[in-house]
Amino acid sequence: MSSKTARAEFHDQTPKAESFRDCVIEGLSGREKSIPCRFLYDERGSELFEAICELPEYYPTRTEMGILEANAGEIGTLMGPHCQLVEFGSGSSRKVRILLNAFDRPSSYVAIEISREALKEASDAVAGLFPDISVVAVCADYMAPMDLSKIPEAEGRRLGFFPGSTIGNLEPAEAINFLAGCRRVVGSKGAMLVGVDLKKDPQVLHDAYNDAQGVTAEFSLNLLARINRELKGDFDIARFAHDASYSEERGRIEIFIRSEADQIVTVDGESFRFKAGERIHTEDSCKYTVTEFQQLAARAGFTAMRCWTDPAKLFSVHLLRPT
Ligand code: TRP
Repeated sequence: MSSKTARAEFHDQTPKAESFRDCVIEGLSGREKSIPCRFLYDERGSELFEAICELPEYYPTRTEMGILEANAGEIGTLMGPHCQLVEFGSGSSRKVRILLNAFDRPSSYVAIEISREALKEASDAVAGLFPDISVVAVCADYMAPMDLSKIPEAEGRRLGFFPGSTIGNLEPAEAINFLAGCRRVVGSKGAMLVGVDLKKDPQVLHDAYNDAQGVTAEFSLNLLARINRELKGDFDIARFAHDASYSEERGRIEIFIRSEADQIVTVDGESFRFKAGERIHTEDSCKYTVTEFQQLAARAGFTAMRCWTDPAKLFSVHLLRPT
């Protein structure tokens, strides 16, 4: 018996796998230690991040979903029929379903994601749920220049989608560069829909990255556990701590792993000295006011069409069109 389950069309642009080992060794060798945040998301890390999204203190995920639910109809009206959605870093493709459900006969969904397995699973799931939409999965690094020339042109407009305030994990100059690249992908008739976490009471921000149950700390420290597992590391995880705080001056949450003692750690045969209190930087999460983000988008060639927030003004979703 054959079942006719709709499948996503798969395009593998074989993004080059960077070496976890080389990045860690390099990051721990500098005067200011750092490890890029993308390495937080191994299997265990991804599981823990899913748990963070469910925490009472971590408002971004549920707030953004609420804003999308409340306004997807209006977004769909602004974009018109037969729209093509292009998502940068599609992950589980959960949020985009809200848009696909509300839009007027969307023609296609293009999911761009570097993690091949997550991409296959999520894009086939969307294809199964929306049999009338053509789903195209592109395995690529959305931060690198992308070739979307083989992706079918849509009948309607192209809408780029970048949720989750991932834009806040880029430095402002990188964010402008990234949006300028999106501008080329969506073309002069297209638009961008971007989720951006708002500036707010510093205590609320602090708590979102320092939950009472310690899930965020476990997520953060899992990076050291991963180094121990994969790179023959000997981090004594009990002697390190999660350290996230809001800098009002810089308008961002700054995330580190802090050494609680003078200690020496070995990774793949190389030794690294930590002083008590010394920190490994893992991620910044920039927060913007609506106006600040519109000014940033303007520098990438976009004009604000519309911005939606939740009643408590925790999070914003911006619809931008090429200037
Ligand atoms: N991109 C998420 C954010 O900026 C990631 C995140 C949430 C995170 N909590 C964290 C990263 C704790 C490192 C440590 O909100």
